[in-house]
Parts: sequence; C-alpha cells; structure tokens
Amino acid sequence: MSTRKDLRIGIIGTGFMGRTHSNGYSQVSHFFPELQYRPILKAVCSRNAEKVQTFADQWGYESVETDWRALIARDDIDAVDICTPNDSHAEIAIAAAEAGKMVLCEKPLARTVAEAQQMLDAIEKAGVANTVWYNYRRLPAVTLAKQLIDSGKLGKIFHYRANFLQDWTISADVPQGGTGTWRMDVEAAGSGVTGDLLAHCIDTAMWLNGSITDVSAVTETFVKERMHAVTGKVQPVGIDDACIFHCHFENGSLGLFESTRYARGHKALYTFEINGEHASIRWDLHDLNRLEYFDHRDEGIVRGWRSIHVTDGDQPYMNKWWVPGLGIGYEHSFIHQVADFLKSLETGEPCSPTFQDALETQKVCEAVLESAASRSWKDTGVGTTVSQEA
Ligand SMILES: NC(=O)c1ccc[n+]([C@@H]2O[C@H](COP(=O)([O-])OP(=O)(O)OC[C@H]3O[C@@H](n4cnc5c(N)ncnc54)[C@H](O)[C@@H]3O)[C@@H](O)[C@H]2O)c1
Repeated sequence: MSTRKDLRIGIIGTGFMGRTHSNGYSQVSHFFPELQYRPILKAVCSRNAEKVQTFADQWGYESVETDWRALIARDDIDAVDICTPNDSHAEIAIAAAEAGKMVLCEKPLARTVAEAQQMLDAIEKAGVANTVWYNYRRLPAVTLAKQLIDSGKLGKIFHYRANFLQDWTISADVPQGGTGTWRMDVEAAGSGVTGDLLAHCIDTAMWLNGSITDVSAVTETFVKERMHAVTGKVQPVGIDDACIFHCHFENGSLGLFESTRYARGHKALYTFEINGEHASIRWDLHDLNRLEYFDHRDEGIVRGWRSIHVTDGDQPYMNKWWVPGLGIGYEHSFIHQVADFLKSLETGEPCSPTFQDALETQKVCEAVLESAASRSWKDTGVGTTVSQEA
C-alpha cells in the first residue's frame, strides 16, 4: 500500500511565477520519488475566467477560481501559493494563514517591513508551514558556494559583492502600473530594483555570509514621469530605477551591491563574488552551472581560478538529474524548492527562507531605501536570527 500523502495546492497568479511554480509541482515527484508528499494541482486562481481555464488546462489543474478568497475558503486546499504582484502578498498570506493553510509566497515578502511583520505574525499565530521563493539559493552552484563557505575553505571573509543588472525600462515609453508593468508602479511593487532584484542578492548574501548590519545607499529614478497603464495619465514615477549600496556584515566583512534596469545589454545578470582569507568564489546566473573558485593554498605553479562545472552526482541536487557533465537550468531552482518544502513537511524542520528570514531581507531593503532618501547610514535592525539552514 502506498504511503504517499497528497499536498493539495491552490496557486494564485498565472503569470511568470505561476508557470515556474506549476512546473516545479509537476516535475518534483518524477525526480524526487523518495518524498512522502506529492503535490496535487488542485486549483488555480486568476481574475480572468477564460485565461485561468486555459492555464488550468495547460498545466493540469483540477479546478479554477477567479477570486482568491474563494480559493482560500475551500477545504480541499492544503497549501496556498502566492504568485501575484507584491501589493497583494500581505492580504492573501494573512487570510490564508488564518484559514489554516500552509503558505508559499513569492518574493519580496511584502512592500514594507510593517506588512512583512504582520504576515509573519499571522503565520506564527496559525503555526503553518511557510516558505518564500528566493529560489536562487537552490541552484546547485549557489548551494555549493554555501557548502564551501560553511566548511571553512574560504577562511575569514573580507568582501561580498553582488550585481543584478537588467535593461528593459530604459525607454520613457514603458508605462507604469497595470498587468504587464506593475513593477514600475510603486503602489503595486513597493519599490523598484531594491525589492525586485536586490532582495534576491540580499537573501543570498545573508544566507552565505550572515547578517547585514548597516547600509549606505544611493538610488536614482532616471525617468521621472511615466504614463500609468490604468489611469492613462502621466504620473510621477515612485520606484528606484537603480540602486547602489555598501554595507557591513556582522562577521566584519564589507559588502557592495548594485542593481539597475538601465544596464544596456544585460537581461538578468545576477553575479556575486566573495573574497576570503584563503580562497575566493564567484558565480554568474548567465552561466549558472559553474562556480569559479580560487584557492591560495594550491601549489604555486598551478594556482589559478578553477571553473567548477557543478554537474556531478556528489554536488548539491545533481544526483537527481542526468549524468555528470549535463547541466540543468533556471527552472530547476523552483523544482528544488518544492522538493525541499515537501521534505520539510516530513521532517518538521522549517523550509528556509521562511517568512522570518524574508522579513530580515525586507528590513535590509527598507534600510537601503531610507539611507538613500536621507543620504545617511542606516542600521538594518537585522539580528543573528537569519536562518543559515539550507
Ligand atoms: N523568485 C523569482 O525569481 C521571481 C521572479 C519573478 C517574479 N517574482 C515575484 O513573483 C510575483 C509575481 O510576479 P510575476 O512576474 O509572476 O508577475 P506576472 O505579472 O507575470 O503575473 C502576476 C499574476 O497575478 C495575477 N493577479 C494579479 N492580481 C491578482 C489578484 N488580485 N487575484 C488573482 N490573481 C491576480 C495576474 O493576473 C497574473 O496572472 C511578484 O511578487 C514578483 O516579485 C519572483
């Protein structure tokens, strides 16, 4: 007799993330057959009845809803997955937690620390399993970076630097607001590149290198007014188009972060480099299966940067995939997060990043924006509570 347990998923939002998560739920049981829990695509919700039905047919969801409240009210849903724009995360997550559902929420957790704190309070009060989709942690090369750092190979860390560069908003004709360009509207997004892109860099950084204690930032909004897609009016732009900040980590290292949507030629260039006493590592999303590693302890005549192709069975997650030497892609980070979430239900351990971890990232984002606005250093208020678990 099968001992498998069904985890009935209700997903809200059918855009970019609706697709990556649906793929994650669809694939996970094929590649992680040992897991006790198996996701069942029970219901999908989006506001347009015709479009949501098409999505359900395409991905194999059993049913549809056009109001997320109706989805949350159903007693045949165990876990609510929030794949909607940032302004709806808090309301949906709190309602889902109050209904006793597990909550998987897209990043950034919220628009502000205050919203994120309310979400965490609701999750804790309900005592429900939760996770936030900072998925880059679960690319094998990034997880390997974590293993190398934790094993002490780098020694004391001095520098952490990260970039996240794009180029899709340079034209002044790109509108703000509405379904396609909600990221340009501060009301919907909460912030610009800080919450959208740097939040990923900050999550990875605090996972790899511990808490960020204080920040000094500069932001710029290059196009000051844009047409609003909903009102049709030209309105001031409230988001940061670019952000650069430097910071201290609790372990004494210095951080340098840059993000922009105005770096012509770059589509999603997320890179980081970490310099330690003995060794350095660097990683580039455009070449995501590789981790570069330099170890000063190597014999002098062969010392140099190694390019590690992270595709071997003893490297993180890779024994689940093909044969050594064959790479995987962006979508696998979501499959891995689903797998780790399902595993956490078996073990009872939290699946990091949890709402608590994501609140810490939110605090850094908010301190960055406050620092830029006030042209001064800001403490983040981030403690030592950031989960260092995988
Ligand atoms: N983890 C990552 O790497 C990553 C990447 C992209 C986006 N995101 C995050 O995922 C979230 C969604 O982004 P996206 O790129 O998928 O956006 P998107 O615009 O592609 O999709 C948003 C979806 O939400 C639906 N929606 C909006 N309001 C709704 C409501 N009130 N009720 C039901 N459905 C509603 C829209 O119809 C659409 O289907 C955002 O929070 C974003 O920051 C994360």
